[in-house]
Amino acid sequence: MCGIVGYIGAKNCIPILVGGLRRLEYRGYDSAGIGVLSQGKALVVKSVGKVSVLQDKLDKLSISSSIGIGHTRWATHGVPNETNAHPHVNEKNSLMLIHNGIIENYAALKETLKLAGYVFKSDTDTEVLAHLIDSFLNKGLTLFNSVRAALNEVEGTYGIAVIFENEPDKIVVAKKGSPLVIGIGDNENYIASDVSALVAHTQQVVYLEDGEVVEVYKDKFIAKDVSDKEIVKKVQEITLKLDEISKGGFQHFMLKEIMEQSESICNSMRGRLVPTEGTSKLGGIEEYADRLAQSKRIIISACGTSYHAGLVGEYMFEQFAEIPTEVEYASEFRYRNPIIYPEDTVIFISQSGETADTLAALKESKRRGALCIGICNVVGSSIARESHAGVYIHAGPEIGVASTKAFTSQLIVLSLITLLIARKKRMSLIDGQNVVSEIEHLPEKIESILRLNDGIEKIAEDFKDAKNFLYLGRGYNFPVALEGALKLKEISYIHAEGYPAAEMKHGPIALVDKMMPVVFIAPRDSTYEKILSNIQEVKARHGRIIAIASESDDKINDLVDYTIKVPDTIRMLMPILTVIPLQLLAYHIAVKKGLNVDQPRNLAKSVTVE
Ligand code: G6P
Repeated sequence: MCGIVGYIGAKNCIPILVGGLRRLEYRGYDSAGIGVLSQGKALVVKSVGKVSVLQDKLDKLSISSSIGIGHTRWATHGVPNETNAHPHVNEKNSLMLIHNGIIENYAALKETLKLAGYVFKSDTDTEVLAHLIDSFLNKGLTLFNSVRAALNEVEGTYGIAVIFENEPDKIVVAKKGSPLVIGIGDNENYIASDVSALVAHTQQVVYLEDGEVVEVYKDKFIAKDVSDKEIVKKVQEITLKLDEISKGGFQHFMLKEIMEQSESICNSMRGRLVPTEGTSKLGGIEEYADRLAQSKRIIISACGTSYHAGLVGEYMFEQFAEIPTEVEYASEFRYRNPIIYPEDTVIFISQSGETADTLAALKESKRRGALCIGICNVVGSSIARESHAGVYIHAGPEIGVASTKAFTSQLIVLSLITLLIARKKRMSLIDGQNVVSEIEHLPEKIESILRLNDGIEKIAEDFKDAKNFLYLGRGYNFPVALEGALKLKEISYIHAEGYPAAEMKHGPIALVDKMMPVVFIAPRDSTYEKILSNIQEVKARHGRIIAIASESDDKINDLVDYTIKVPDTIRMLMPILTVIPLQLLAYHIAVKKGLNVDQPRNLAKSVTVE
């Protein structure tokens, strides 16, 4: 989703801004722009489409400047065009502003500003902010105070950066509900909405909190909170390295991320398994482990792929931790006036740690007194910081918009939490040790599945022209069916539905004919025989069947058109294996259709608006 970068120092900021915007491309956007002070005057350059288009424009202009801001816009208010792209300016063209988030009361503010004589050029909510700040500058306030005064009138979410011609030594930034970080350099400072735009320049960062407004100079920054009190901000070291956010020889980030799953799940479990005691050790929730185990109920709240991980978590928690568990889309949960008791634990799963709905659901649950636990990938992200306690999944940066390695790492962490609670309850030492051993063996099993890549690519060739797909699974593998379908639609734009296999007869079977590919997730488990019956039902209607089956299964080959075999493991861990062929299948179909796998149309990596 929208991205922010900025620079103030002695260097020419143009390559820094463009480089930063490129690093943010993965978040999803449809236009881009930069605003700099060139010979003391505000200068804005914008373009529709990719950052490369903006780069071409800038190359022709050969501008140089030591202070500037850049933005990638993902359209919310107004179509993607140059007028709606950021930065937005005031009428005198002396103030430039970029904004992530949504100004909810923009219509009312716009009317008031129009009555005061302001003329609007764009359809955006952001332009309102530029004029509103201008109205305070006209009253003689400094830029900092004008920004603060304007934000006092605003409802909604924002991460903003503002440059003003008359105060050319600073960028003013502010945050509420949309991430913003300052990168500290040597006599130069950076700003960004995401640390990946900063790692090429500095490892020293300062995360802004909601309500903070900061003046960023080249050699210092002054931060104030909502009550106008100056605050001392902690400078933190980021461990992210540049090579971690590059493709490393793969054609796409998504393929790289699928292929690194044997390693990423190792990182998720490293140092956290205690084989002798058949349990896990999770430093981030240690203090709350007993309260968690005694919870009357667990609610898991998340969006997208993280929601699907939550659904697998529900099966784990109910089977082994013996705690009733519900899983809710964060967007529904936050507005449903949910009944939350103090004895409840609410777990928030989010790769980015910034998803607006999940963050809002977390704040609501905290307000209602529940123990709130975050399962995030991005260290220092808003959800990680807002939660009472949490477990990082340590999957490493995920750049491809379609989530892959974060999903399998989320499942690892959920299994570790399950083990921790189950061993505090009725799971025996032997059973605990068995789970530990099965978790430890997953990386080599993933390796063996990844070796099936060429075969899966061939299957993709046969299905690349399909218009619809059905994914069916039962029990632990029902969420995998949902996730497989989501992967396919996200990147190949083929309509796909995930369903519990037994529900097929209540609707989807009407769709089955020889044009309908059906993917069955059918490992040998307690529902295997029933899944075979469902397969027969599809076969009788000439559906084309792909089965994800157990290595030991030699019966299924005769029933289906294509079989992808995965090694066996215990039921609760099976989704970590069965999902991988589905990620590869979606990937290869999208590549064969010539689509932009890493940045699918209309999607964003981190959804920081509702
Ligand atoms: C977006 C991404 C998905 C992701 C979802 C939730 O839709 O495109 O890949 O699953 O957001 O994101 P989160 O960062 O909260 O896991």
